[in-house]
Amino acid sequence: MLTKDQVAAYRRDGFLVLPDFVSPGACDRLRKRAEQMVNEFNPVGMASIFSTREQNRLTDDYFLDSGDKIRFFFEEDAFVEGKLVRDKERSINKIGHALHELDPTFSEFSRTDELQLLVVDLGISDPLLLQSMYIFKQPHIGGEVSCHQDSSFLYTEPPQIVGLWFALEDATVENGCLWAIRGGHKLGLKSRWARTGEGMKFEYYDTSPWPEEELVPLEVSKGTLILLDGLLPHKSLANRSEKSRQAFTLHVISASSSYPESNWLQRQGLRGFD
Ligand code: FE2
Repeated sequence: MLTKDQVAAYRRDGFLVLPDFVSPGACDRLRKRAEQMVNEFNPVGMASIFSTREQNRLTDDYFLDSGDKIRFFFEEDAFVEGKLVRDKERSINKIGHALHELDPTFSEFSRTDELQLLVVDLGISDPLLLQSMYIFKQPHIGGEVSCHQDSSFLYTEPPQIVGLWFALEDATVENGCLWAIRGGHKLGLKSRWARTGEGMKFEYYDTSPWPEEELVPLEVSKGTLILLDGLLPHKSLANRSEKSRQAFTLHVISASSSYPESNWLQRQGLRGFD
């Protein structure tokens, strides 16, 4: 699937951008399905918020038990004094984390030979699909995701994960595209978010700040696939624009890596791409 130069670029930079990987029609099918799912979601009495600002405090069982389910998480700014101030369709931050397992539309999109070959090219032998997320980055209230490494949240030994980030709409600086530190995956893992006897806690291995001045924006058009090394530091800014920045993501691990019980996401029967 990938040329030698592309694999070398991924190893050097920690990411690789593949424009026009997904057809506009396939992007629209996922968007339509996500819209339908949100329409059918009944938020009465439910207010699980996804925020990277206060991850320990705002994480609840609804999140921690979502590894093998399809669940809906709100933007922090969707609420004023505990009440939703927009339509739920404009308030959801993301849907996670087993869309690829439970929903036929997302499963069909995710389980392809093409994607399997791609991650094998990147060194993930015997790949397993660990999680999927549909991210809305809503107009006006889409929250910032602070600089992080995906391996902090989905830790394996050795730390070897590939994230597949599919742009379902154009992603620009204005609507909150990804930013990444080129080559930053070589800085090593800084922290882990782990289950402890007292709930979720960050364990720190290196408390120096990220060199955020080195972040570069990855502005991409609809249909682009961005491949991300789990150790790559990346972030996205808040979306204050009129346009959403919808994306679908998959995270893939190798069956030969060990996956600790202290990771937040626990599920049985991980499957590959078939
Ligand atoms: Fe991430």
